Amino acid sequence: MAKPKRRYVCTECGSVTTRWQGQCVDCSQWNTLVEEAPETPFSAKHHLSTGGRPIALETLDAPIQPLTRRGAGLAEFDRALGGGLVPGSAILMGGEPGIGKSTLLLQAAAMIARSGARVLYISGEEATGQVRMRAVRLGLADAPLQLAAATSVRDILTTLNSGPPPALVVIDSIQTMHSDTIEGAPGTVSQVRASAFELIRYAKENSVALVLVGHVTKDGTIAGPRVLEHMVDVVMSFEGERSHQYRILRALKNRFGAVDEIGVFAMEGQGLNEVPNPSMLFLSGREEPIAGSAIFPALEGTRPVLVEVQALIVRLQTGATPRRAVVGWDSGRLAMLLAVLEARCGLNFSSAEVYLNVAGGYRLADPAADLAVAAALVSALADKPLPLRAVWFGEVSLSGEVRPVAHSSLRLREAAKLGFDMGHGPQDSGPDSGSLRYSALPALPNLVDRVMGGS
Ligand code: TYD
Ligand code: MG
Repeated sequence: MAKPKRRYVCTECGSVTTRWQGQCVDCSQWNTLVEEAPETPFSAKHHLSTGGRPIALETLDAPIQPLTRRGAGLAEFDRALGGGLVPGSAILMGGEPGIGKSTLLLQAAAMIARSGARVLYISGEEATGQVRMRAVRLGLADAPLQLAAATSVRDILTTLNSGPPPALVVIDSIQTMHSDTIEGAPGTVSQVRASAFELIRYAKENSVALVLVGHVTKDGTIAGPRVLEHMVDVVMSFEGERSHQYRILRALKNRFGAVDEIGVFAMEGQGLNEVPNPSMLFLSGREEPIAGSAIFPALEGTRPVLVEVQALIVRLQTGATPRRAVVGWDSGRLAMLLAVLEARCGLNFSSAEVYLNVAGGYRLADPAADLAVAAALVSALADKPLPLRAVWFGEVSLSGEVRPVAHSSLRLREAAKLGFDMGHGPQDSGPDSGSLRYSALPALPNLVDRVMGGS
């Protein structure tokens, strides 16, 4: 028999090669190939076209089972999930180590257990004593949660199958789980995939809500296999800067609901507290205007959130390549905006270092942030502060036009409610701006005039 070929699997995209390479040929990531046990060869006599059972085919207009959801009683958690946990659904909870995933899930699990449902919390990372200590600190020690420290998927499933199906099972984390049906250490792509597959199958067959915790890598992808994202129904991401208090729970994918609502929490001494009204959180509350700071009225689902964008420009004396560093925004988008400001407005950033920061550890994904970022950049370059009570929004095109964005009046009304008195944005977006004065900036050169003119 031929020697089984070596097999290398990319931990980012799951692509398979027979030779180790520094860079994955499919997704171009570096150092992501790991060796895995060979797959059993597929023999030609196992053709799948006959020998199975015929499956029933249905029509689209057959009666629909209404979705039942179980709220955790943690409104921000339920909101981000689109209204609560759906029985039989698998949820992947991603986030950087230390961001608060275990804390959040322990809180949610304890709340559900308190409501009378059976809930299991399986930790593969911490001893039960550690989890219990956290529960005491969170004031949840009385919750009738069933707790275990385990990493063997076989043991976990045997335990689950020996009792009535619980309402919720939390696995913290999937990277520590081990399935003995295949080779490899916990955390390898094939182990994570096999463990998740077995657990998800149990959840589907028994209508159990399953939460799998997954640590993410520095660049924000769920560590190990992206394939996990395809296997689950819901992908949640728990975000924030560890040095800041605020955390955002966001759905990246949800087969049972919208993905545009967020949950906002503050990490405090007694765990995560809900922040029902986050619109002021990401403002610095400064009383003096400073150059390079612009306020963007962001929208998260249906909730407006005002965010401060800060830019710093440092002129270089030497011919060294200037740095561009971004926290909380897309660096490719910054490069584009700088290029448009150079090409359409004649500004010169080429010999300057550019730093961009979104305050409070917030991550901006809304394209309407372009104008606020541009305003911060121009203000920093000109060393002219923007008016303290002004907001800026609009998408910038390559031609330098400021394009309309969704929900402009909602953004402006929230800003007015919080004491802002001036809105800047695309043409035709101002009529319904509440008590705010509105100034249309059709293109970036108008922005530059406005900032330089200081009005
Ligand atoms: P944790 O939930 O363990 O993070 P993860 O599971 O995502 O790795 O949270 C770890 C951090 O949260 C830790 O650095 C301490 C902080 N923390 C608080 O500030 N207050 C608390 O009540 C708890 C339980 C944790
Ligand atoms: Mg943890």
